[in-house]
Parts: sequence; structure tokens; C-alpha cells
Amino acid sequence: MAALFLILLLSIAIYSPPSSSTSDTLSEGSSLSVENPENILTSPDGVFTAGFHQVGNNSFCFSIWFSEPFDSYTNRTIVWMANRDQPVNGKHSKLSLLKTGNLILTDAGQSNVWATATTSLSPANLSLHKSGNLVLLNSKNVILWQSFDYPTDSLLPSQPLTRNTILVSMRSQSNYSSGFYKLFFDNDNTLRLLFDGLEISSVYWFDPWLTGPEADRSTDNSSRIAVLDSLGNFTSSDEYTLIASDYGAILQRRLTVDCDGNVRLHSRAKPGDKWVVTGQTIQDPCKINGVCGPNSVCSYEPSTGRKCSCIPGNKMVNHTDWYYGCEPKFNYTCGSGESSFFKLPKVEFFGYDYGYFTNYTFMECADLCLQLCNCKGFQYSLIPGQSMYSCYPKTVLLNGYRSPSFFGDLYLRVPKIHLLSYGMPQEEYRLSCVDKVVELDRTYEKSRVTGLVKFLLWFACGVGGFEIICILLVLGLLRQTRRNSNEDTEGYLLAATGFKRFSYAELKKATRGFREEIGRGAGGVVYKAVLADHRVAAIKMLNETNHGEGEFLAEANTIGRLNHMHLIEMWGYCSEGKHRILVYEYMEHGSLAQKLASNALDWEKRFQIAVGTAKGLAYLHEECLEWVLHCDVKPQNILLDSNYQPKVADFGLSKLFNRGLENSSFSRIRGTRGYIAPEWVYNLPITSKVDVYSYGVVVLEMVTGKDPTKPDVDATDGEQRRLIMWVKEKLHNGTSSGEIEARVGEVIDGSFEGEFDMKKMGILLEVALHCVEEDRDARPTMSQVVEMLVQLDKDQEH
Ligand SMILES: *[C@@H]1O[C@H](CO)[C@@H](O)[C@H](O)[C@H]1NC(C)=O
Ligand SMILES: *[C@@H]1O[C@H](CO)[C@@H](O)[C@H](O)[C@H]1NC(C)=O
Ligand SMILES: *[C@@H]1O[C@H](CO)[C@@H](O)[C@H](O)[C@H]1NC(C)=O
Ligand SMILES: *[C@@H]1O[C@H](CO)[C@@H](O)[C@H](O)[C@H]1NC(C)=O
Ligand SMILES: *[C@@H]1O[C@H](CO)[C@@H](O)[C@H](O)[C@H]1NC(C)=O
Ligand SMILES: *[C@@H]1O[C@H](CO)[C@@H](O)[C@H](O)[C@H]1NC(C)=O
Ligand SMILES: *[C@@H]1O[C@H](CO)[C@@H](O)[C@H](O)[C@H]1NC(C)=O
Ligand SMILES: *[C@@H]1O[C@H](CO)[C@@H](O)[C@H](O)[C@H]1NC(C)=O
Ligand SMILES: *[C@@H]1O[C@H](CO)[C@@H](O)[C@H](O)[C@H]1NC(C)=O
Repeated sequence: MAALFLILLLSIAIYSPPSSSTSDTLSEGSSLSVENPENILTSPDGVFTAGFHQVGNNSFCFSIWFSEPFDSYTNRTIVWMANRDQPVNGKHSKLSLLKTGNLILTDAGQSNVWATATTSLSPANLSLHKSGNLVLLNSKNVILWQSFDYPTDSLLPSQPLTRNTILVSMRSQSNYSSGFYKLFFDNDNTLRLLFDGLEISSVYWFDPWLTGPEADRSTDNSSRIAVLDSLGNFTSSDEYTLIASDYGAILQRRLTVDCDGNVRLHSRAKPGDKWVVTGQTIQDPCKINGVCGPNSVCSYEPSTGRKCSCIPGNKMVNHTDWYYGCEPKFNYTCGSGESSFFKLPKVEFFGYDYGYFTNYTFMECADLCLQLCNCKGFQYSLIPGQSMYSCYPKTVLLNGYRSPSFFGDLYLRVPKIHLLSYGMPQEEYRLSCVDKVVELDRTYEKSRVTGLVKFLLWFACGVGGFEIICILLVLGLLRQTRRNSNEDTEGYLLAATGFKRFSYAELKKATRGFREEIGRGAGGVVYKAVLADHRVAAIKMLNETNHGEGEFLAEANTIGRLNHMHLIEMWGYCSEGKHRILVYEYMEHGSLAQKLASNALDWEKRFQIAVGTAKGLAYLHEECLEWVLHCDVKPQNILLDSNYQPKVADFGLSKLFNRGLENSSFSRIRGTRGYIAPEWVYNLPITSKVDVYSYGVVVLEMVTGKDPTKPDVDATDGEQRRLIMWVKEKLHNGTSSGEIEARVGEVIDGSFEGEFDMKKMGILLEVALHCVEEDRDARPTMSQVVEMLVQLDKDQEH
């Protein structure tokens, strides 16, 4: 009886009665009404639904969305909207397919707000395809109209972005109407992002001062088409590619231009799941124009998010919205004797130049600005690679951002009488992912929108956007092709191969029963393996007690997510029973430790290894979205590929570390004798500077050839200090009274036999000594180290 009842129930559930309201096609002469929630079209596999979606109190848009989650419309993922800028009334509005073949949307039974403007002599019908494409087809199988040709802010797999289509962001996370950011093909055939604000518009991606070829984009292919495939490869005819970090067969994917101006790939493995961000075009959100408005500066740190602040002497125009930026609290005066300049270091304002003047002295540039009534200040920056400065007087101060890596300053024009008051702290607002993210109420009601709600709505974009990055990226791995001519970004290589979970049996076979041991450390034993796809791998079998499964998977995911040419690439992992195994790429030349021991490296290789290692560590500390400390930098953990390019290994075994939490401390000392920073010993807060210290020791070891763990001198307190003191003495106040060259020569590894670049080695030593300062605040950051070394390398080439 019960079984019969169940079967009955099931058959009711499966068999939906034929009705004109719920059907898969809309035929001529019929319509979908806003009042009946059943009036929807579903795709054959049920993945997509088209119907009226409520966007506010009593306002609806005809939309296509992912059917799941079914339960609540507030969590719907909308992929297309017919009338996003003109919602229709909740009464008497309907979408009708006329006998003429025209599909129209009428508002409250009165005016047409939207139409496809199609005509067909043969009968037509409207249906939602499996791809999510809403198609108006006539009986001759001619496509009269399809939603894929009119995207809003999203692209679905196989939906092309073409010369005729533009993606336009939403206004905010809660407001579906057209926003300010547009992805489109420009006249030179390249894909661009445009900020199209209320008063101004500007292209912000790729860097507008680059030509297509300079940005690694092809301008020759005029087909102007970009498509996301179902595996997560977004490719454009200008040769831009964005590969999802979870590249492979994942159930659902989409690409959006988000309301914060970034282009992101989203995916989910199961229909009702939360979407995960698996790729984005812009890494530094301050590079997106219009973020902070005029007269303000954007700054971004992964740990705290994006932040706007007014430039000195200015105040926020509208306290609920940074879009309006700031305005001066004074009046600009034209007389040149009345103005002076206030320096904003490392700040760049992009665009709105009165002109571009090279080889100007500071005074020439200042005079030029003073002579112009509308000059608000000037950008004064060193031309990279040359000892000349360029001068850009600014007529509008917009798109400002502060970046530690920017080689220039902004000089703000201010009335002389106010100059002294400019050192004061300025108004700031943190658009921070640390703040609790507020759940937004998506219904709207003009009269009841309070200042606070508005405020939240406005910031939904900023905060929400970063919430996505901060929370969801923990799950997805973020990799992208970052193509521009900037030297520092060379490390971002594309890794398309997925990150895989291996079975123990598979790895046992690949290592032929764990036969060939190639390394052994505190963490575990490393074996050489040949995977089924013939790739040679290094397999690290972790000591059993080290990791619980959850912790292990979290760490494996973290490591797998990091991708840089100077970090060892992880291909996968195995977690089965008590086995915890990591699978890495195999490094032909083994570790730096082995090569140093066998004296196999000339000074040039050592210099390149120092630079590469610094880049890898800088990426760990700063570039990736979460700060990761290595905590065990030593020659054993720096591996060398077939070209002697270094790759930092073993970084995943240190805890993920948020630099915002400076005072948290690890429970026990991590690291290796000889390379341990004093903070560990004195129980001081552990920051990224511990890696800087260890790096310094490694560089000293490379340059001097002396192993800090086996010092020549007696080794009682902190072995490395002997090495450091020895180098310092020789270099600075040593007995040798000769030139610096002679002194450098004294400390340098004897195996170079005089064959080395004195200047490079000297500077490398200075940088290393700087890194091993006892006071961690006195040490440079890893990216400063990179800057110093790369600059040196460039200078040499000129
Ligand atoms: C929506 O607005 C109408 C009037 O425009 C009002 O009568 C109604 O109460 C509102 N609904 C809600 C849920 O606030
Ligand atoms: C949206 O989904 C999340 C989790 O998937 C759930 O916690 C939340 O309650 C949903 N929101 C609404 C309004 O249903
Ligand atoms: C819709 O039109 C197509 C093409 O004319 C036809 O093949 C299909 O059977 C029609 N569907 C319905 C339900 O009328
Ligand atoms: C969305 O933004 C537009 C433009 O600012 C505005 O006109 C509209 O009222 C907003 N809609 C909602 C639901 O807040
Ligand atoms: C232009 O781009 C399209 C799409 O990416 C590609 O199919 C075509 O082969 C390209 N043409 C040339 C001449 O490279
Ligand atoms: C700030 O902006 C909001 C939204 O555009 C607007 O409603 C409000 O009136 C503005 N406030 C001021 C003080 O201009
Ligand atoms: C700036 O000039 C306007 C009119 O020209 C004047 O009303 C205002 O008080 C001046 N502001 C300051 C700070 O001097
Ligand atoms: C820059 O200007 C200085 C003096 O004004 C001049 O000596 C120098 O040659 C100039 N450099 C270049 C590259 O033009
Ligand atoms: C992505 O697609 C493009 C064009 O089809 C292809 O050239 C490229 O190799 C693909 N990349 C990956 C990782 O599949």
C-alpha cells in the first residue's frame, strides 16, 4: 500500500500535466504572464529557466537564470535579462509572441518596454536551449532572434562575444540595471575593458598606454570573437586567454563582468552549489578606473582589501558613495606665487595630462604647472632604465592609486598658506573583506530606503566583490595569463593542466614501489616517479603523524593554487588511509644545496638563482591573494630546473599566514638551524621577514660558499651569525684597507677564481646583509629585494 502510494507520488512528481503555462516552448499567439510564477520556459535538461524575475518591489525583468537553487529567487544566478534598465510592473505585464513573429514585453498591459522586432511569415516559437540560449525559431528553422546575441553581463560556455556584442556590468550587486563597466572589442581588434561613468569614460584594461602587441595581444585578427569553452578556457581572437584554475570538466561555468569592473570566471561542480571564482583578469583592483572618484587615492592590500582616501586638503563629496570622490577644501588660485606643492609618494594618477614632458628637472616641471591655471599638480617619475625624469602636469586628478612598486610621485598643487596643515591624516575608508559582509535586502522601495541601506547597497559592489575574492578563492585556484610587458609579471605562467588527486596504487606504480629515493627531510621522503602520462615527478611522502586529512587537503589545495615560475609546481596529491603524498614536478638539477656542495655553479648562475628565489618568495608573500610564509628557506628547498632556474619548494608545509595578524605566533619554531631568524628565538611575532632573513643567509652562503650550518669558526650561538659577522667585518670595517673590490674579493667563494662581476656580487652581498638585519623592521621585503636585484641586472645591460 505504502509502496503504491510512493509510486503514485513519484509519478506525480515526474509527470507534470500538460498545460499551456508550463511548457518548453512558447508558440505564436501565446504569452508568459508576470503574475503566474508557473509561466516559465525551461531548457530540456532543466538547467536553465526563463521567466519573470523580481528585481524590486513590484518590478520584474524577463530573465534567464540557472534553475537551481530552486527555493528562493534571491539566490538566483541570472545570466540574461531582456529589460534590465526598465523593469515592468508586477501586474498585467507579459511577454508575448505575436503572430507576426515579433516577441514583445508589455508593461502593465500598456506600453512595450522591449521587443525583438522580428517578423516571420512562417510560424515561429520560442524555446530555451540546453546551452541557456533563448531562441526564436521559425518553422523553416531560421533563427530569428537569440538571447546569446544580446548578452547582459554574463557569457555562458559557447556563447560568443563578438564585434556586435558588449558585456555590461550590473550597477551593483543588488541592482541589475546597466552599470559602468564594459567588455568589448575595440577598433584595433583587441578585447578591452572600459569604465563608462556618468561624466567620464576611460579604458583601463589592458593598460591603455600599451599598444596591442606590447600587451601581447594580436591586432591582426579581425574576426573579433571570444568564447568560453565548457572546460574553462576563455580565448579571444586577439590571443588573450583566461584559463579557469579548475580547468577541466566541471558542470557549470560562466564569465561575468562584475559590478566592481573585474572580469571573472565562475564555476560550480553541482547545480545547487555556491559559485566559485576560478579566474579574473585584473589582479590589482585599484587599476580599475572609477573606483574611488576624483581627488582620491585607491590602495590595495590583499589582507585588508581595497581602500579609498581623499588626497590632502580634500573632503569626500558624498559620504555614501566614493564614486563622487573628493573635492578640495580650498580654491585653486591662479597666481604662481600663491601655490606650492605637496608630495604624495608612490602615488600615480592616470590620465588627464596637460602634456608629457621628458627630461624635465623638478623645477621646470613645477614652473610649468604653476603657469597653468587648471594644473592641479604633476606626476614626476623616473623613466625606467634611464636617468631622466618625466613630467606630467594634471588637469584632473582621477584614477589615483598608491602602489609600493610605482617609481614616481605626485606633487599636489596647494595654496601656500595651507601647506603646513597638509601633513594631517586624511579621510579614509576601507573597503575591506575583513569587515563582516552584510546580507543585502534586494527588494526596494523608494520611500523606505534609508541612508544606511543605500550606503550598504553602494558598497555592495566593493565589499561584495572582495568578499568573493577573499572567501571563494580559498576554494578555487586562481591562475591566469597575465600578459603585459612588465618585467615583474614574467613569472605568471599559464598552467593548464589540472590539479589531480592520485590513488596510492597509482603512485606506487609510478615510483616502482617507492624505489628511487631522491631526498629526505624532516617532512618526509621524496621519490622519483614517472606518471602514467610520462611526466617525471617528485613524490613527497609525508611523515604519517604530520597531518590530519582536513588540514592536509587544505594545504594541498593552497599549494596547488600557487603558480609561479619560481615556485615548484604541484601536480596533485594523494590522501588515502594514513598516506599523505604530494606530487610535484621533478627538478633535473636537484637542490641548490647539492649544487653548492659540488661547486657546480658559476657566479652568473648563482646571481640568477638569487633573483629567481627572491621572485618566488615575493610572490608567496605579496602577490598571491593570501600571504604565505615559507618559514623554511634553505638551499635544500631551492630546486633547480634544467636551465638552472630556481624553484622554491616545500612552501606549503608552513601555515597559511595572514599578514594582517601580525601578532599571532606559531606554536613552535619552524625552520632549519643555520637559517632561523632571531624572531623565533626571542619569541617575537613571526612575519614574512623571517623568510627574508633566511633568504639573506642563503645568499651569503651562495656568494661566500660557506655553509652556515657548518661554520669554520666555533659554533655555539646561532651558527649563521658567525657567517654574517664575518662577511660584515670583511666588507665594512675589515682589516683590509683596499678598495671595495678587494674586500668583496676576500669573502667571495674561492671556486669563482676571480671570474665574477664585482659590482653584482658586491650588491648581492649588501642586499643579503640588509636581509639579515637583527631588527626585522630594518629588513627589506622580498619584493624590494627583487626590485634591487632586477634593477641591477637591467643597469648592467645598458
Ligand atoms: C510595494 O509597494 C506598494 C506601493 O507601491 C506597497 O503598497 C506595498 O506595500 C509594497 N510592498 C512591500 C512588500 O513593501
Ligand atoms: C542563499 O543561499 C544561502 C546558502 O546557499 C542560504 O544560506 C541563504 O539563506 C539563501 N538566501 C536566501 C534569501 O534564501
Ligand atoms: C518549434 O519550432 C520548431 C521549428 O519550427 C519545431 O521543430 C518544433 O517542433 C516547434 N515546437 C513546438 C512545441 O511547436
Ligand atoms: C538601480 O540603479 C539605477 C541607476 O542608478 C537607478 O535608477 C535604479 O532606481 C536602481 N534600482 C534599484 C532597484 O535600486
Ligand atoms: C582569428 O581568430 C579566430 C578565433 O580565435 C580563429 O579561429 C582564426 O583562425 C584566427 N585567424 C587568424 C588568421 O589567425
Ligand atoms: C549621495 O549620493 C546618493 C546616491 O546617489 C544621493 O541620493 C545623495 O543625495 C547624495 N548625498 C549628497 C550629500 O550629495
Ligand atoms: C571659494 O570661492 C567661492 C566663490 O568663488 C567662495 O564662496 C568660497 O568661500 C571659497 N572657498 C574658500 C575655502 O575660500
Ligand atoms: C637631459 O637634459 C640635460 C640638461 O638639461 C642634458 O644635459 C641631457 O643631455 C638631456 N638628456 C637627454 C637624454 O636628452
Ligand atoms: C584554449 O583555447 C585556445 C583556442 O581554442 C587554444 O589555442 C588553447 O590551447 C586552449 N588552452 C588550453 C589550456 O586548453
